[in-house]
Amino acid sequence: MGKMLKVLVTGANGQLGRCLEKHSGEYPRLQLDLRDKATLDITSKARIHAALREGVFDYCINAAAYTAVEAAERHPEQARAVNATAVKHLAGACSENGVCLVHISTDYVFDGLKVGAYTPADTPNPINAYGRSKWEGEKHIQAMMERYFIVRTSWLYSEYGENFYRKILAKAASGGTIRVTDAQRGCPTDANHLAVYLLELIANGRTDYGIHHFTDGEPMTWFEFALKILKENNMEGQARVVRDHKSRSFAARPANSVLSA
Ligand SMILES: NC(=O)c1ccc[n+]([C@@H]2O[C@H](COP(=O)([O-])OP(=O)(O)OC[C@H]3O[C@@H](n4cnc5c(N)ncnc54)[C@H](OP(=O)(O)O)[C@@H]3O)[C@@H](O)[C@H]2O)c1
Repeated sequence: MGKMLKVLVTGANGQLGRCLEKHSGEYPRLQLDLRDKATLDITSKARIHAALREGVFDYCINAAAYTAVEAAERHPEQARAVNATAVKHLAGACSENGVCLVHISTDYVFDGLKVGAYTPADTPNPINAYGRSKWEGEKHIQAMMERYFIVRTSWLYSEYGENFYRKILAKAASGGTIRVTDAQRGCPTDANHLAVYLLELIANGRTDYGIHHFTDGEPMTWFEFALKILKENNMEGQARVVRDHKSRSFAARPANSVLSA
C-alpha cells in the first residue's frame, strides 16, 4: 500500500460533499478533512491560506459553490464571490503549497447551440450569471496552476439536498399533474458516481491534468428524466407528467448541454 493521501474537501455539507463523505470509506488510503461553510468559508482568503498551509494536504477537492442558478441572476456578485474570486484564492493557496486542486465545474459554461455533445476542447460561452461565474473560476485555475483537474459535470442528483430527482418524487407522492420542460437536453448525473470518479482519480494518482467531463452518459430532456424517475420508483400510476415546451426559468438555460469525454 502506498502512502496516505491527505485531501481537503470544501463545501462538505453540499450534495457532492456528502456523497464524497459517504464513499470515502471505500478508499482507505485517502484521508479526507471535510470542511463545510462554517469551518472553512472559501470566500475568506486568509482562512483558505491558513487551512492549506497547516494541513499538509496532497489534494483539495473544491465541492463548495454558489449553485442557485436563478438567484445568481439577481445576485451575480454573490455567485462570483464564491465561484470565481474564492476559486482564485484556492488556486493561489494550492499552488503555493504544492496541493493538486480538483475543482468541479458545469455544463452551464456552454451556450447550448452546438449540435452534438460538448467535449473539453469546446470553447465556453455562458449565457447566464451562474455559468459566467463558474467559467471565470475555471480561467483563474488555468492561469495560476499546473497540477489541477477541472471536472465538468451536469444535472447532479442524489439522495441529499435539493435536486430535480427528489422534487419529482415529492411531487409524485402528492399526486396530480407535473409540468416539466423539454426545452433543454443534458445528462443527469448521480452525485454518488461523480464522488467515486473523483476519489478514484486521486487514489489512482492520475496525471492527465486539465479539463475533464464526467456524466452518467445518457442524454435526455428534463421531461424524459421525470418519466424515468417515476419509472425507476414504480410511481408511474401516481402522477401525470406533462410536457412543457417552454422553460419557466428566469435565468437563460442552454438548450443542449450534453457533455462527452
Ligand atoms: N447541482 C447541479 O446540478 C450541478 C450541475 C453541474 C455542476 N455542478 C457543480 O458541482 C459542484 C457541487 O454541486 P452540489 O450539487 O453539491 O452543490 P450544493 O449541494 O449546492 O453544495 C454546495 C455547497 O457549497 C457550500 N458553500 C456555498 N458558499 C460557500 C462558501 N463561501 N464557503 C464554503 N462553502 C460554501 C454550500 O453551503 P450553503 O448551502 O450553506 O450555502 C453547499 O453546502 C459545484 O461546483 C457545482 O457548480 C452542480
